[in-house]
Amino acid sequence: MSRAEIGFMVRGYNEGIVADYQMSALLMAIFLRGMTNEETFALTEEMLNSGAVVDFSDLGRPRVDKHSTGGVGDKTSLVLAPVVAAAGVLVPMISGRSLAHSGGTLDKLESIPGFRTDLSLAEYRATLERVGVALIGQTTEIAPADKKLYALRDVTATVPCRPLMAASIMSKKMAEGISGLVLDVKTGSGAFMKDQADATALAHLMIVIARFMGKEAVALITDMNQPLGRAVGNSLEVIESLETLQGRGPADFNDLCRELAAEMLVLGRASTDVEDGRKLYDKLIANGAALEKMREIIEAQHGDARVVDDYSLLPRAHDERRVLAGRSGFVRAIDAEAVGRASMLLGAGRARLDTPIDASVGLEIKARISDEVTPESELAVLYFNDSSSADEAAPVITQAFTIAREHVAPPSLIKLVLR
Ligand code: URA
Repeated sequence: MSRAEIGFMVRGYNEGIVADYQMSALLMAIFLRGMTNEETFALTEEMLNSGAVVDFSDLGRPRVDKHSTGGVGDKTSLVLAPVVAAAGVLVPMISGRSLAHSGGTLDKLESIPGFRTDLSLAEYRATLERVGVALIGQTTEIAPADKKLYALRDVTATVPCRPLMAASIMSKKMAEGISGLVLDVKTGSGAFMKDQADATALAHLMIVIARFMGKEAVALITDMNQPLGRAVGNSLEVIESLETLQGRGPADFNDLCRELAAEMLVLGRASTDVEDGRKLYDKLIANGAALEKMREIIEAQHGDARVVDDYSLLPRAHDERRVLAGRSGFVRAIDAEAVGRASMLLGAGRARLDTPIDASVGLEIKARISDEVTPESELAVLYFNDSSSADEAAPVITQAFTIAREHVAPPSLIKLVLR
C-alpha cells in the first residue's frame, strides 16, 4: 500500500468514515499477508499523527517508559512506574487494555476504586510534573487511532501480527514525549509471538522505528512460557504488585521487574550501568520509596490510596475453587495462553467490544514449570462470581498443564537483550 492509501484508511477510520467491517477486512489482510517495513513505518506514523504528539522536553529531565508486547500475569508496569519515578526519572506511560488472552495495565489500574486512566492532555502533563509519573490510556487526544484499532483487533483475532503490533506499540510510545524506551518483547506459549525468532524480529523492527524517530530504545526478549508471577486477573494482579513493592513478590516477577527497571534507570540517567540500576531497584523497594510513590500515583489519579494498606478495599470475587493436578510427576510445560483464556472465561477479559470486565475474578497459579506435583497438589485456585464460569475454566487449566515423569529445568527468564 502507498502511504496515501494507509493514511486514508487510518484517518478515515479515526474519523468514522471507514466502518468497523471495512477496517476489519484490512486488518485481516495485513494479518495474513504482512507488511513491508516501509508500509509499517507509514502505518506507525499515520497512527502517531492521528493525535497530539506530546513534547515534554521543557521539563528538563529524561523521560522513560517501558512497553510489553503482552502476556499473562504481566503486571510489571505497576511496579516499574513507581520504582523508576521514585528514582527521579519522569515516567509518562500510555498503556492498553486487556487484549485477547493477555491482560492490560489500564484494566488492572481501574480495579482500584476511583482510579482514572482517562486523564486529559492537560491533566497528563500536570500529573507528570507534580508526581513524576502519569499512567493513562490512548485517548481521543493522544494515539486515538490506536485506541480504536487496538479494540477492533482485540475482537477480530488480528493481534498476533508483527507490523500491527509494532505500529500499535510505537505509535503510542512515540506520542508520549519520552526520550527513552524499554521494550519487553515476550516469547513463549502465552505471548503473541510464540517463537523467539519472531519476537526478535519484532524487537528489531521496533528499535529501528524508535531510532528513526530519534529515541533511545532497548529491547529484552523475555520468557512467557508460563504466567509471570502467580496472579492472573485485575485486582489480584494489583495485590501482587503491591506485595512486590514491599519486597514480598514472587521471585520470577521481581527478577523481571529488576531487569526492566535497571534498563529504564540507565536510559533515565539515574544509574550509570545496569548493575547499578539493579542495586537502585532493590534499594527503592527496601526503603519504601517505591511504595510511597505508588500511593502518590493512586491519589493523584483519583484512586483510593487506602488499598495500599487494605487489600479488602479492592474488588474481591465471592467464590474460589482449587484445581488439582490429579497425577504425579513434574510440570513440564504450561500453555500460558490457555491460562489467559481461562481467566477471560472467569470474566477478567473481553470477548466482544462491549463485554464488561469483572475486576475481581481471576486465578492464582500454584505450580510452575519444573515443580514436582502429586495428585493432591494445587495447579491453580480460581476466583469467580459465577460458578458456571468456573465450570468452564477449570478443565482449561487442567489441560494447560503438561505433567511428565522426568524433571525439566525452568525456562530462562531473559532470553536476549538488544541494544
Ligand atoms: N501491546 C500493544 O500496545 N499493542 C499490541 O498490538 C500488542 C501489545
